[in-house]
Amino acid sequence: MDITTLDYIIKRLIQGSWVSGEEIAKELDISRTWVWNQINQLKVYGFEIRSSAKKGYKLISTPDVLFPSLIKSYLHTQYMGQHIYFFENLSSTQDKAKELAQKGAEQGSCVLCEFQDKGRGRRKRSWIHVPYKSIAISIILRPDVVPSQIMQIPIVIGVALCEAIRDHTSLSVELKWPNDLLVNGKKLAGILVEMAGDSEKTHYIIAGIGINVNLTEGDIPDDLKDIATSIFIETKKNIHRPKLIGCILNYIEKWYNTYLKKGFLPVRDKWLKYNCVIGKEIDVHLSDMTISAKAMDLDNLGNLIVLDKDKNTKTLMYGDISIRTKN
Ligand code: BTN
Repeated sequence: MDITTLDYIIKRLIQGSWVSGEEIAKELDISRTWVWNQINQLKVYGFEIRSSAKKGYKLISTPDVLFPSLIKSYLHTQYMGQHIYFFENLSSTQDKAKELAQKGAEQGSCVLCEFQDKGRGRRKRSWIHVPYKSIAISIILRPDVVPSQIMQIPIVIGVALCEAIRDHTSLSVELKWPNDLLVNGKKLAGILVEMAGDSEKTHYIIAGIGINVNLTEGDIPDDLKDIATSIFIETKKNIHRPKLIGCILNYIEKWYNTYLKKGFLPVRDKWLKYNCVIGKEIDVHLSDMTISAKAMDLDNLGNLIVLDKDKNTKTLMYGDISIRTKN
């Protein structure tokens, strides 16, 4: 599939008015037959395109495919998502984004794929990705932060993602420290932040986001049914993923800019508004043990402050927590 040509044609069609095959052919230096061919290819992908011998082609509706031009048509950003790399198959969008970051890809560049067979979650867990129904996206960030601030990044991304999904779906999405988005207590999305740097400086950060979008009950493995959900399961509505991705990138740029210009405090305030953890009795799962505690606050570095059962205050910089249900 020639993504570049298709991408260009989508971009022209999205502008809204009729565009002639001759015009596109000239602009791309290809034949009119090849343009016609590509238009037919777009129709196979589900683009509804009207043809007229006199006027050319006009876009009527767009399908749920992750073409960069289609996603970009929903962006209002300066740099977030301005370079989108889409691949049909990848082992993990994180690895491809790292490769691109090492080659100098700009801040805000994104990697997306439809099939991801080695998607990873936090703490070496695998991440279930359902082609054509999930969103897997990795974003390259180059903030001027020291490694001790790294826990702030998933909080920034979490706040942006939470607002974007609330705005787009009106679901009451909540944030669970450190990186989960929940609806009705079940996980809807997760964030994996990986960084390259040394003790003094962060070279780049890859913020990976996995979202369960149009998954049905049958797509969720049996052992996850009690803890995972999707936007479709919660709303019974199919979501147009390119539009949602556009909305997410708009919110990420908004919150990332706020963080860079005003610091972490405004982000922390928003996180406190949407979180479902503070004030709750929790279990903290560390690498070698689980402790019971009460979640008290989020500090200025994005760490969770808890009170253990002996009333000692502890600062959690990493780990997993689960909210204890009363029984
Ligand atoms: C978690 O909740 O444990 C984090 C899940 C992060 C999954 C995303 S999908 C896009 C990106 N690519 C990956 O391999 N992982 C992240």
